[in-house]
Amino acid sequence: MLDHDVIIVGGGLAGSRAALEIAGLLPGINVGLIAKTHPIRSHSVAAQGGIAATLKNVDTQDSWESHAFDTVKGSDYLADQDAVAILTQEAPEVVFDLEHRGVLFSRLPDGRIAQRAFGGHSHNRTCYAADKTGHAILHELISNLMACGVTIYDEWYVMRLILEDNQAKGVVMYHLLDGKVEVVRAKSVMFATGGYGRVFNTTSNDYASTGDGLAMTARAGLPLEDMEFVQFHPTGLYPVGVLISEAVRGEGAYLINSDGNRFMHHYAPSRMELAPRDITSRAIAIEIGKGRGIFPNGSPGGPFVYLDLRHMGREKIMSRIPFCWEEAHRLVGIDASIQPIPVRPTVHYSMGGIPVNTHGQVRRNSQELVDGFFAAGEAACVSVHGANRLGSNSLLECVVFGRRTGTAIASSVITRKLPDLDEAHYLKEAHHQIQSLLDQRGQYRIAEIRQAYQDCMTSFCGVFRSSALMEEGLMQLRQIQSRYGQIRLDDQGSCWNTELIEALELQNLMVVGELILFSALNRKESRGSHAREDFPERDDNNFLHHTLAFYSSAGIEISLMPVVISMFHPQARQY
Ligand code: FUM
Repeated sequence: MLDHDVIIVGGGLAGSRAALEIAGLLPGINVGLIAKTHPIRSHSVAAQGGIAATLKNVDTQDSWESHAFDTVKGSDYLADQDAVAILTQEAPEVVFDLEHRGVLFSRLPDGRIAQRAFGGHSHNRTCYAADKTGHAILHELISNLMACGVTIYDEWYVMRLILEDNQAKGVVMYHLLDGKVEVVRAKSVMFATGGYGRVFNTTSNDYASTGDGLAMTARAGLPLEDMEFVQFHPTGLYPVGVLISEAVRGEGAYLINSDGNRFMHHYAPSRMELAPRDITSRAIAIEIGKGRGIFPNGSPGGPFVYLDLRHMGREKIMSRIPFCWEEAHRLVGIDASIQPIPVRPTVHYSMGGIPVNTHGQVRRNSQELVDGFFAAGEAACVSVHGANRLGSNSLLECVVFGRRTGTAIASSVITRKLPDLDEAHYLKEAHHQIQSLLDQRGQYRIAEIRQAYQDCMTSFCGVFRSSALMEEGLMQLRQIQSRYGQIRLDDQGSCWNTELIEALELQNLMVVGELILFSALNRKESRGSHAREDFPERDDNNFLHHTLAFYSSAGIEISLMPVVISMFHPQARQY
């Protein structure tokens, strides 16, 4: 058995920022960080447009209160406002801290950090490193981490959380290199495992975003919060779905339909292309649904709209958003300085997740916490985003709440002892799980079932939803799930058996997808990213609360948790 004072699962921004904080506060502490890829390949590296903070470098009228209001309005009033106040007040400090750690932000001519416009933000407050901001930040954090004695287990896949008597005691992990299974025991366990975009068939997320941390938490009997709120980013590159950053619109690009019109005028006249993502994604889906989308040959009625950068000029495109130009060029052969880019909504972000308080402590229910278990970043739901996240608030959340969670772990871990646990039991269980999968001689390949599952989630729980659609979806989902017992793995080896990992990931996708659909069926109103055709209005009387969904093999149970409203009372949301 491996012992650590602290185990962090996930090497992206939230996990690495927490690890740095703990190591800085308690030099010599024994922290282990486990990542299923190398940490610099965590999905945070793909974040493009920026990180919001009221530095006032471009817009002197900005304030944290204004950032907080934009965030709460953007959330359709579901965000917890105590957490939003922390997020927005601590933002400038964490950005300067990143700068001091070596992050190369883009600059204004006078040398200060540059800031750009972003959707739903009323001021230009998004700090950036061209359109590779996640890359710039993550590389610096990981190189800082390498220097401070944290043990990194890269390419180890965590199979389960060990939770006994409401105490997190460790994890069980599998080494991709040689198939070795290890039990890791710790005084505190933190999950920073990112999102679940791969539950759907078209996503901006990488292949590793399979909701592992969420599924392990749910399987351990703990709730997941607000899983019905799935963010569709308006501008996924058609047909692949990879992200074309909102920074492109922040720098001035237009969305146009098959009539050549800037259709956002009808949906958010005061914000146009810089409306929040839920509104812009719905607008694009409506335009396409009404036949004003475009086909690859340029004729009307097709599956995408255009993102038009041509008026911006090559020099601005190449200096501010070079990566987006490159993506369009490399993946679909478009030169965006002279041709419009085909885009449509793509699954991008999970507003919901493992419920935590503002110190990253995981909730057991609406009133109690779990001992020794923490979470931060996209995997967690501290609910700063409520029903819809504003762009450039997610890197911020990772850094603010990664750091706060690190502080909370550091102050609690010194008085804790290593827990007792039965290593042999957990090893036996993990070996049995692996061997049963290898021994299964069914008729389905993993990819077939995964594809059917992703297609089902996309068709029945997309941008627009209804009871009839989701009930049908849930029924089909369960049929697909029942085929899991008949998958066949061709690779029987223990060296780099990625097929086995895909089988384990598929189990996780299935847990997460069912929780999303069930939670979505239960919320009979439209709020933020959750747009119901059968309940088109927001209903504060009956649904101004968080969903807590508990998973078990017998079925899912829903309970409610109040929203913290401390600054801004819910109003009609218009842009
Ligand atoms: O569009 C983007 O660059 C994404 C930013 C974000 O999700 O915050």
